[in-house]
Amino acid sequence: MAEQINRKWLVAAYPDGMPTAETFELAEEPAPTAGPGEIVVRNIWLSVDPYMRARISDRASYAAPVAVGDVMVGGTVAQVVASNSHLYSVGEVIVTQGGWQDYCLLGPAQQDASYRVDRALPLSCSLGVTGMPGATAYFGLLRLGKPSAGDTLVVSAAAGAVGSVVGQIGKMHGCRVVGIAGGPEKCGLCTDTFGFDACLDYKAEEDLAASLQQACPDGIDIYFENVGGPVLEAVAPLLKDGSRAPICGFISQYNELALQPPWDVINSLGKRIESRFFLVSEWLGEMPKARRELSTWVQEGKLTYRESVAKGLEKAPEAFIGVLTGRNIGKQVVRISATH
Ligand SMILES: NC(=O)c1ccc[n+]([C@@H]2O[C@H](COP(=O)([O-])OP(=O)(O)OC[C@H]3O[C@@H](n4cnc5c(N)ncnc54)[C@H](OP(=O)(O)O)[C@@H]3O)[C@@H](O)[C@H]2O)c1
Repeated sequence: MAEQINRKWLVAAYPDGMPTAETFELAEEPAPTAGPGEIVVRNIWLSVDPYMRARISDRASYAAPVAVGDVMVGGTVAQVVASNSHLYSVGEVIVTQGGWQDYCLLGPAQQDASYRVDRALPLSCSLGVTGMPGATAYFGLLRLGKPSAGDTLVVSAAAGAVGSVVGQIGKMHGCRVVGIAGGPEKCGLCTDTFGFDACLDYKAEEDLAASLQQACPDGIDIYFENVGGPVLEAVAPLLKDGSRAPICGFISQYNELALQPPWDVINSLGKRIESRFFLVSEWLGEMPKARRELSTWVQEGKLTYRESVAKGLEKAPEAFIGVLTGRNIGKQVVRISATH
């Protein structure tokens, strides 16, 4: 049999500002072989996510950067093609950290951190609506946003992987949900498909603060923060005393050299607001239960999702830059190979 080749995207240089085509470099090597206790997986789907911007930067973050010359990290759905492990057999499909490449060698610790894919839904859902982004929405909203009927919930990056799930879970809890997203197509999706009560196009609004005030006449009880920057500036004055503002991310600032963290803006309001930055990994032990519940909601038609699919590993950098510039609708994934 011909030797299998592993194509892999290496980090070529940390970008100043927005990543470019020069940030990553495509390399090839023979596919790995499994040693004792190891497995080799072939990636089928790759997730590209905003957090990856922090991995190609020297700026202090909650996780170490990927060294220049190393394979770019990323969650994948992957099929086991060789196994010397009692944990997974050849042919099984798992969710793992397979990186931006065709094949990945997984030792015992990486196998422990992996899990079998949810077969009740299309495989890519395990990277989106029932995967890390879905769980982020689930825990961030339910544990920190604490939604209850009648609350006004505002969510930014509303048509994205996390935001779309936040709004839909908010609706399940009887909230009045107002999304903020870029462009008419995304706003239409939020109201017509995800069932939000309203969605404001922050790119088109002449006075976002005034439009938000109209959309939220009684103020905001929960703000699920995904973007920071000018959107937060418009939201902040409407936050009520006693409101909750889970800080999930602040994507508008990720390419800025002098970033303005949302907690500075929220704390400066001098109001009684429960707000903190959180990481989905805080609820690691409860993740299987959350995944099951999200999957059940999708199967029952209570939760829906959209995906933007880039075809081919070679498209990974473009897809990643697309997430940072708002080209994606719903969860951005990259199709690397077919299932066998
Ligand atoms: N804390 C955690 O554990 C955790 C886990 C996962 C994700 N996150 C965070 O959650 C947020 C959403 O992530 P996601 O995976 O669901 O991504 P996503 O929303 O699917 O994609 C990112 C979206 O951000 C919006 N965006 C980009 N630049 C922007 C800007 N300058 N101003 C306003 N919006 C901008 C774009 O939508 P528009 O077209 O609407 O602008 C883009 O489509 C990110 O901040 C991410 O870092 C946090």
